[in-house]
Amino acid sequence: MTVTAPPARGAITAGEPIRLTSVNKTYTTATGPLPVLQDIDLHIETGEFVSLVGPSGCGKSTLLKIIAGLIPFDNGTVHVGEQAPKEGRRDVGFMLQQSVLMPWLSVRENVTLPFAIAREKGSHIAPRVEELLELVGLSHSADMNSWELSGGMQQRVALARTLALDPRVLLMDEPFAALDEFKREHLGLEVTKMHEDMGKTSILVTHSIPEAVMMSDRIIALGARPGRVVGDIRVDLPRPRSAAMIATPEFQDISRQVREALAGEDGSIS
Ligand SMILES: Nc1ncnc2c1ncn2[C@@H]1O[C@H](COP(=O)(O)OP(=O)(O)OP(=O)(O)O)[C@@H](O)[C@H]1O
Ligand SMILES: [Mg+2]
Repeated sequence: MTVTAPPARGAITAGEPIRLTSVNKTYTTATGPLPVLQDIDLHIETGEFVSLVGPSGCGKSTLLKIIAGLIPFDNGTVHVGEQAPKEGRRDVGFMLQQSVLMPWLSVRENVTLPFAIAREKGSHIAPRVEELLELVGLSHSADMNSWELSGGMQQRVALARTLALDPRVLLMDEPFAALDEFKREHLGLEVTKMHEDMGKTSILVTHSIPEAVMMSDRIIALGARPGRVVGDIRVDLPRPRSAAMIATPEFQDISRQVREALAGEDGSIS
């Protein structure tokens, strides 16, 4: 296998577009077929940040797994860049809700893991790991054991790992759900800044409307099962974003539009 070294800082790989056309997905369950996604049309531009919101069970995680190539879909087409989804593509980074760190490894070793899994070797890896640790604010905690970390620190390690191979596309499934409100807002703003610096195409699944508005260029509202698009709301707030924007009438108006799109769809949304 030929492995190309990831670009050095300053040459971060930008995003690529994601296109879903008429995608349907039905799970086969013990009690019969369970349709979860219906006629999903979603075109995300290079470098765009899109949030998916919708009630629990409407198929948000299913949609991300399809884009990541982790599960098949029934019909329609999906393209990430020029190609169909495929598991293990190094241009697609997937950050899960519950970070799966190796507890017996240090922070630094956990961040080094993606290179080992990709069987990538070379002298560029050590400085790249230090760069990633700095990026997520963990340089001073690099030698800590993973089991010693707070929830917020664990998610920072998970984020560094997701960014390690410099993906073009970032898929994040409720990455801050386990954090308290303060940490959540703080890390959300940091990821927003990273996005503004790097321009990777990003999809965030969240149950928080303010988080979606703060971070996104566009918010896709999905209705209850089978999940289908019930709202496509543009977030025309200027960038860089800041916490001060939450109090503005524009921010509140966009939040209202998202709430209205989801009105009548049962489920927990804040
Ligand atoms: N592998 C599977 N086999 C059968 N059914 C599944 C499978 N995975 C998910 N489901 C069902 O599909 C539906 C959608 O699940 P999914 O996890 O995509 O929802 P979600 O929108 O991410 O929900 P949440 O907000 O609670 O995370 C749910 O009813 C779930 O029970
Ligand atoms: Mg989910």
